[in-house]
Amino acid sequence: SSTVQRGEDGALSVGGVDVRELVGEHGTPLYVVDETDFRARASAFRDHFGEAFARHGAEVDIYYAGKAFLCSQVSSWMHEEGLHLDVASLGELEIALRGGMPAARIGLHGNNKADDELRRALIAGVGRIIVDSFTEIEILDALARELGVVAPVMVRVTTGVHAGGHEYIATAHEDQKFGLSLASGAAMRALLACHEAPHLRLSGIHTHIGSQIMSIDAFRESAERMLGLRAAFTASTGDELPEVDLGGGYAIRYTEDAEALDPAEAAYAIADAVAAVMETVGGTWPRFSIEPGRAIAGPAGLTLYRVGVVKSVDLEDGGRRAYIAVDGGMSDNMRPVTYGANYTAAIASRESSADLVASRVVGKHCESGDIVVRDVRLPLDVARGDLVAVPATGAYGRSMASNYNAALRPAVVSVRDGQSRVLVRRDTIEDLLALDVAPE
Ligand code: LLP
Repeated sequence: SSTVQRGEDGALSVGGVDVRELVGEHGTPLYVVDETDFRARASAFRDHFGEAFARHGAEVDIYYAGKAFLCSQVSSWMHEEGLHLDVASLGELEIALRGGMPAARIGLHGNNKADDELRRALIAGVGRIIVDSFTEIEILDALARELGVVAPVMVRVTTGVHAGGHEYIATAHEDQKFGLSLASGAAMRALLACHEAPHLRLSGIHTHIGSQIMSIDAFRESAERMLGLRAAFTASTGDELPEVDLGGGYAIRYTEDAEALDPAEAAYAIADAVAAVMETVGGTWPRFSIEPGRAIAGPAGLTLYRVGVVKSVDLEDGGRRAYIAVDGGMSDNMRPVTYGANYTAAIASRESSADLVASRVVGKHCESGDIVVRDVRLPLDVARGDLVAVPATGAYGRSMASNYNAALRPAVVSVRDGQSRVLVRRDTIEDLLALDVAPE
């Protein structure tokens, strides 16, 4: 992140706080969020997209996708930065509300929302519920009627644009669970059903084509198809849908040699593509929104681990690899084992001038796939007690953490201007035992 520095004695500091001091106070593993960087990434989306669309007289709302990492303080930061919030469950909704995000600025997602989630969203007065099935349209209309409210809805559209880093995170091709298909006509039928439902107010269409997307073309294509659908809706009803959401998915760099998508570049390219379509189809521009999660939270977070055991292993090709075991692993970062995700690592507590050797940072869980960083060159003298930092773990790290092997999920602390504060405290053994029902 932007405020990581190596001090004179070789130790890293983040947000002006020495990592040794952070772990001294909060233990390891530890997720560290650089608040300044997090906010700057959020406001950069707001400003770049705002400007790019303002050139055409249009407006954009930025919904931070809370699934990347959410806690009430982050909800409050996003509110202060003028963002909205995308939540995908009752739990995320409650956390967002606790942080003071106004319900009207929250959008609720989910392909199989429970009645309780929908009811709570309606009572809280969320700004939009993104409906994902005909079943949901019926249920929501009935719940809204029962509660005497009108539910603001958008329809989640499957555009057929195939994008995204890994099969499990691509979401707009036909053969997957999300959305209503544009090609088959289901999306249009859902729009008409919402339009006619007495207790729903249809505000627009939504799509999310995938995650860790590197290509602006995929976003452009998706925007074009969405505006085509909007024009078709106008042609058949005479009404213009006021809002179009293009989802998240902006790629970040996990390792030095990787590529990312530049939000500024994406903003202008998408706005221009939209302008070209609007020129052809005519009518008034909708209000746009996007939902970046990873691109805001990811680079702003790093994880600190303590090295426990180091082994050297002979490889078949005659080489050697250092296995550096740290005190966390797949329970605090599921991404390597789930998606084959790559990260990098560095010694955080000191500098070393030793030779670099092929290394693998592994966790402490009981399986060989428990890898934190598959391939990295680290100094030969990495030893028990050293702190290792793994950058770019701010998104989908803590939010996907588990208690596998009854691990205690690490704390999340934020740092800024030389100060740290706890965002989420570490699990304790008492927390674990509190959920366990003892024998009589
Ligand atoms: N909007 C919707 C409707 C989404 O489903 C998602 C992500 C986002 C926005 C935010 O996408 P982002 O900008 O963060 O790429 N666990 C996976 C990522 C799954 C993303 C699911 N939905 C990972 O660790 O890579």
